[in-house]
Amino acid sequence: MTFWYNIAMNATTPSPLSDYEPYAGLPPLAGIATFKEASKRGLSVEENVKRLKRYHFTLKRLMQIFEARLTAEPVYELKMAFSLHAHYCAEHATALRERVAEMRTPPLGLDKIPDASLDMFYHEIQNSPDALHLITGIYSHALPALKRGMQQHLEETHPLADHPTVRVLRFAMLELDEMLSYGHQAVRCLLKESGRDTVDHAWEALLIDLLKAAGDLDGSQPVSPCNSAAMFSATPFVYDKTPKRDARFTDPYNMGVHAEEFLYDSAFRARDKTLMMYYKRLREIDVPEMMASILTETQDKPWAYYRDMTRQLWDEARHAMMGEVGFVTNGIDWRKYVRVNFTWSLGLNTQLQPWERHSVLYFIEQGLMTKTGKRFEWEVGAESGDKLAELFQDYDWADEVLHAHIGKNWYVSAFGDQKGAIEFGSKSWSKVLMGWTEWKEQGLTEHENWWPALYTKFCETHSLQPDPAAQEYHTTYETTRADLEKLAVSG
Ligand SMILES: [Fe+2]
Ligand SMILES: [Fe+2]
Ligand SMILES: [Fe+2]
Repeated sequence: MTFWYNIAMNATTPSPLSDYEPYAGLPPLAGIATFKEASKRGLSVEENVKRLKRYHFTLKRLMQIFEARLTAEPVYELKMAFSLHAHYCAEHATALRERVAEMRTPPLGLDKIPDASLDMFYHEIQNSPDALHLITGIYSHALPALKRGMQQHLEETHPLADHPTVRVLRFAMLELDEMLSYGHQAVRCLLKESGRDTVDHAWEALLIDLLKAAGDLDGSQPVSPCNSAAMFSATPFVYDKTPKRDARFTDPYNMGVHAEEFLYDSAFRARDKTLMMYYKRLREIDVPEMMASILTETQDKPWAYYRDMTRQLWDEARHAMMGEVGFVTNGIDWRKYVRVNFTWSLGLNTQLQPWERHSVLYFIEQGLMTKTGKRFEWEVGAESGDKLAELFQDYDWADEVLHAHIGKNWYVSAFGDQKGAIEFGSKSWSKVLMGWTEWKEQGLTEHENWWPALYTKFCETHSLQPDPAAQEYHTTYETTRADLEKLAVSG
């Protein structure tokens, strides 16, 4: 015993080979590190997994928060950004889950809350009272802390031994930076608009304290107890699934222009139909509004469900923005000429259960797979000569095919059979009552026919000879209620 003890005590660290060179001066270690960098100690598997689980928890909670707040957030641009950032969070959370699963950790424990203070931190953000608080919590506190953790992780972990984690974090940080850049601008803009200098000192101090009490987001720092009382998380979150729109959506109950009737009428010109397709695309804002409510109110599905549905939610937001781009590119101020309603998301969210909403979504999307569905819209785009309309419809079609698959995987498979699933979707949809007359009587809308003014503007802008029949188009959604195939389809 004494002998070996003495050897251990006298052992010295060997000096690295100073004349060791890779063949022909090639970069060593496949180019990922120098020998010096690869000689350092790194995070153990256990410490690594512990931190990754906290990043995962963060991304999962932020995805849920974006989705829980999207529908009732009136500002269109924020709705769109929440859709994208929920998608980013879902994708990177997925990559982290896969990496954790590679590191000897079953059972994975990915649904466990890793720290009570961190949990409260996200409840404070989720329950915050307005958009300015919400985006401050996310973009000025949560995401910077996540970046801090990931950056430190990359510095501390072993570049060779833990290379798979390095890749996952490096890719996550690319989109994390994009989210932060958006978020910092968004906070600045809303702060300026509010006329205030700061958001909420006391609340931001609480968020900082909660992170300190968690040993920072990654748990790598000493823990200091949080003595501040809960503010917004003191009362449970009240989920608001009623869609809201900002002031640019001047007539959200308007059902005065039947887009599909115009689109499918062979008497009208393809060029004129592109206008209606841009409107239909922009109207797709109602799909994220509706899907966010399914996601928020469905809690018992495997992770892949949330990932796939969140991807679809983002696609729908993209389609809406393609419509917006279409109008802007064509020199038409949609805020002035187009009445984008929210009657579909309002009806589904307030009158159907989440499962029924999903069934309606599937019923509509599988219906778009026929020759008269998305393919037809793309053909109209191609025929019109408007290259942007053609391109947008091309991708809209591809995305909607993907959505029909997502619907098959998560709705039809849970339902059992395709025929029954479609019938149930049709039945659920026919349950939704659109209050054409009530809304009018309540003074919510006059169902104004906004089409002629839009069409006139379009023809003027493009020096087109107006088609008198298109000019006079005045079919509304009032009388076509029974024809489900052609009802206001958000697709
Ligand atoms: Fe879709
Ligand atoms: Fe869609
Ligand atoms: Fe679409």
